[in-house]
Amino acid sequence: MGKVFVFDHPLIQHKLTYIRDKSTGTKEFRELVDEISTLMAFEITRELPLQEIDVETPVQVAKSNVLAGKKLGIVPILRAGIGMVDGVLKLIPAAKVGHIGLYRDPETLQPVEYYFKMPSDVSERELIVVDPMLATGGSAIEAVNSLKKRGATKIKFMCIIAAPEGVEALQKAHPDVDIYIAALDEKLNEKGYIVPGLGDAGDRLFGTK
Ligand code: URA
Repeated sequence: MGKVFVFDHPLIQHKLTYIRDKSTGTKEFRELVDEISTLMAFEITRELPLQEIDVETPVQVAKSNVLAGKKLGIVPILRAGIGMVDGVLKLIPAAKVGHIGLYRDPETLQPVEYYFKMPSDVSERELIVVDPMLATGGSAIEAVNSLKKRGATKIKFMCIIAAPEGVEALQKAHPDVDIYIAALDEKLNEKGYIVPGLGDAGDRLFGTK
């Protein structure tokens, strides 16, 4: 079963409060999502492998660590996932970025892929799929399906707010995918919104409503 990690660092929790607030405007909302994404990226990269090298200080040669050059990829689910990309790239600027576009079929209510563009070596990369909200889990499950179909094997899912329903569905569909969240909320309402949540993350990021 995929593990769930809640990043409850005080800075993340503080910023989360302000993105929940309905009076927070687009500019500030976008900045806060960016900052939260950077802070989450700091936590999610904790296990990155290191290699020891020699470095010449002004005093003597020292043994010191650098990142071992693991190949990473960030995969935003369009469109709200885009709001998290720059924040993650601030800490891992060499990561490649792939995009997945999904829409919900109005009849079947199932997510349908309309866009998929990944780095050519996607199967060799450790991927972090990002989407601010994990609601029913439908999009996250389909995004991971799409990546696995193209050969990806090492996938993490990172979101800001999750509903228990979405966490359970993603864990069940993809037990190999660990889930990283800033807050686990109460439930989904009848319209599929996370409660208490923050409303529609895409609309709030892009000022569409
Ligand atoms: N997507 C959102 O943007 N908000 C929700 O509450 C649920 C899904």
